[in-house]
Amino acid sequence: MRKTIIVSNRLPVKISESNGEYNLQPSEGGLATGLGSIYREGNNIWVGWPGQEISDPKEQETVTKQLRKMNLLPVFLSQDEINNYYEGFSNETLWPVFHYMGVYARYDQGYWDAYYQVNKKFRDIILKIADPGDIIWIHDYQLLLLPGMLRAELPEISIGFFQHIPFPSFELFRLIPWRAEILEGMLGADLMGFHTFDDTRHFLNAVSRILPAQTSANVVSYNDRAIVVETFPMGIDFEKYSKLGSDPEVQKQMERLKENFQQEKLVLSIDRLDYSKGILQRLQAFELLLQLHPEYIGKVVLYMIVVPSRDTVPQYKDLRDEIDKLVGNINARFRTLAWHPIQYFYRSFPIETLSALYNFADICLVTPMRDGMNLVSKEYVASRNNNDGVLILSEMAGASKELIDALIVNPNNIGAITRSIVEAINMPKAEQERRMKAMRTVVAKFNVNHWVKLFMTRLREVNEMQQNML
Ligand code: UDP
Ligand code: G6P
Repeated sequence: MRKTIIVSNRLPVKISESNGEYNLQPSEGGLATGLGSIYREGNNIWVGWPGQEISDPKEQETVTKQLRKMNLLPVFLSQDEINNYYEGFSNETLWPVFHYMGVYARYDQGYWDAYYQVNKKFRDIILKIADPGDIIWIHDYQLLLLPGMLRAELPEISIGFFQHIPFPSFELFRLIPWRAEILEGMLGADLMGFHTFDDTRHFLNAVSRILPAQTSANVVSYNDRAIVVETFPMGIDFEKYSKLGSDPEVQKQMERLKENFQQEKLVLSIDRLDYSKGILQRLQAFELLLQLHPEYIGKVVLYMIVVPSRDTVPQYKDLRDEIDKLVGNINARFRTLAWHPIQYFYRSFPIETLSALYNFADICLVTPMRDGMNLVSKEYVASRNNNDGVLILSEMAGASKELIDALIVNPNNIGAITRSIVEAINMPKAEQERRMKAMRTVVAKFNVNHWVKLFMTRLREVNEMQQNML
């Protein structure tokens, strides 16, 4: 039977060790829930790294057995590979360049070599399980070489590739010493997907300027193959977030929030620790709010969750220190005996807690410097069954192209963020409703199932087109 092989750097489960035992927990991220509907079907399978260094072959075998029951196939990475492929080339080279932070990027031959080798490791594992007629769907910037490596071995297999982070303009992309190899790797796919038209355009532009390839409209002709490049904005599981509000645990947590914040407006901020998320600028805007509008002292609280991420990469560690310092300064400067301006958590939370916060918060403040899509903004909208609440959203997030009824801000303009918070606090209910209803229609319609279906249908069509061309 024809199967779909999903491939991403990280598997949709979190693995953790306690008392010498490995525990698996489903991960709540958008990709995991979105593709959950297909990877559990039939003999479909998801290939990826379980997120921990497991070097003992016996332990690897135990974990593999456990994962195989869930249609998951692990790729184990050594500490050296984690350092050079994951933290190194993926997150110290590609991540900063693709998020327009060129000055943070390190170009290191050792990182590149590890990136190449680990992409090959993924290739070899997939070659063992792929059969003719299968569909391979590869995800994200950690595996840009994999489509090309697989294509060389399996010329007729159907390969889709989706990039979840931005694709930068040519002027940024050209900085990477291995730019041609990266594009060649990506072009091993039959169908390439990005979140926004700008990302798609930037990719096509890079291809035509760097490679001897022809591009016409959204088709690249390269090595006697036609590769289709299109925009597929990713959605979320709208129904799940909408329904979670009536879950007893969520209700209980909302009651607690109501007791704790009886008088205050709650401004919610949820991100992974990342310099692309604009966390410091958001804090500065909140500080400016309290400085310019002392009438809000005691009346507004910033509830800020920062999920630990990549904290062995130097810029992430530095950012964490800077956040700690700034939160400490703001709290020390403005707090009263009964009130703290910022409730700051450096940890992750279960989905019930996130849902209670999404339901309770008057304002959701999402101000990345750059973001491929940003699912938090969509999760907030999906949770607002009463059609109230205000979303403040950076124009640099992919989601801003769809959620045009949010208060859209330039995240570098601290004053503009502050003014948006004031506007949100004072927004009449009727206007909140008008905006939220329009956004909910979009998030409900273009949900994650719609995204998966659209991509897979298109991949099948492209494959048929290519078979006819042979
Ligand atoms: N998230 C989570 N636990 C937390 C906080 C956030 O699982 O404690 C999830 C959140 O619900 C969202 C994802 O992490 O689905 C973050 O996705 P987003 O696109 O906003 O940003 P990314 O981290 O992918 O850059
Ligand atoms: C972004 C990337 C994903 C990545 C996730 C978490 O969403 O697009 O590929 O998995 O961040 O980052 P991590 O480095 O922890 O996998």
